[in-house]
Amino acid sequence: MYPLLRSLLFRLDPEDAHGHALALARMAGRLGPTRALLAAASRVSSPMLRVRAFGLDFENPVGIAAGYDKDGRAVQGLCALGLGHLELGTVTLRPQVGNQRPRIARFAAQRALVNSMGFPNAGVDALLAQDFGSPGRTRIGINIGKNKDTPLEDAAQDYCALIERVGDRADYIAVNISSPNTPGLRKLQDRAALEALLGAIARTRDARPRRVPVLVKIAPDLSEHEVDEVLEAIAHTAIDGVIATNTTTDRSGLPEEAVKLPGGTSGATLTARALGLTRQLARRTGGRLPIVAVGGILSPQDAVDRMRAGAHLIQVYTGLIYSGPFLIRAIQKELVRTCEREGLSSVFDLGAPSR
Ligand SMILES: Cc1cc2nc3c(=O)[nH]c(=O)nc-3n(C[C@H](O)[C@H](O)[C@H](O)COP(=O)(O)O)c2cc1C
Repeated sequence: MYPLLRSLLFRLDPEDAHGHALALARMAGRLGPTRALLAAASRVSSPMLRVRAFGLDFENPVGIAAGYDKDGRAVQGLCALGLGHLELGTVTLRPQVGNQRPRIARFAAQRALVNSMGFPNAGVDALLAQDFGSPGRTRIGINIGKNKDTPLEDAAQDYCALIERVGDRADYIAVNISSPNTPGLRKLQDRAALEALLGAIARTRDARPRRVPVLVKIAPDLSEHEVDEVLEAIAHTAIDGVIATNTTTDRSGLPEEAVKLPGGTSGATLTARALGLTRQLARRTGGRLPIVAVGGILSPQDAVDRMRAGAHLIQVYTGLIYSGPFLIRAIQKELVRTCEREGLSSVFDLGAPSR
């Protein structure tokens, strides 16, 4: 079924195609019978898939990454795909339009995308006004970012205000400081800036009556030394986990025309780099810091590799575009099969040698 739908969607501008896919998911989620049908076709239930990370229990380790449903418009439909978690956003305090279109390019032969979206979103009020319906057992993460026109030195105010706003609706919060499409944003990953920002964020988290885990999402373009610095800042400020990775500014493996495009690359050309970063993070932290692995997971085997590298959870985005929504189910089935073959009682144990 999906190859047919994909050939139709791929005739459209990538952002329009995404809008249609999201509208379809929203519609399917709103109608009880289609939602039930989708859930029945998607569900892979196994105790082996259950994972515990940053104080939360997840039905399975597979989620959809930030950017797919920025405004929380299709929560029920997406959750019916059998997700362990769904990360909404990136949401900003005030609505913003993002960069000029076209701002997503497809490189189908490489199974990659280049996007320069720049956090277009309807703002946090609109996100909170959405009725998420019943997300079932799916955990909801909300990914937050600063507005483009907020000066970098005031970024902490945006992030802290957003934590206050979304803290009661989110199972976890992801702090996005790694998008290449908001000028200067990645500078927040620098050691001193990061310690100050994460310190302020942790104080806001800890002052709230209900503690919500806060994770930080990092770029794949950091050097080994910079990754170590990020890990030190995370440890000093007791941040609950790391999401690795966002898109890369590297254009390796893509044709010449991609080099001229602004923005970040996702998909198969990111797989090796993101996998390497998961390995590095797991090794450096000895498995003590929960890792949400994302970047270039396009097949069930990519997901197995990422769990083996020490991930607690995994996320997909570009894989959904090229492989379709049932990629989620296929990944879960392969994870169960791998555990059975290796005599493991939990998918989490796949990563034991890497931690
Ligand atoms: C069109 C598009 C929009 C994205 N928007 C966001 C976003 O708003 N916030 C964010 O943290 N990541 C965003 N991402 C990055 C993804 O969440 C993910 O980290 C990245 O694409 C790598 O995973 P993938 O190779 O599976 O796509 C976006 C990615 C794409 C392709």
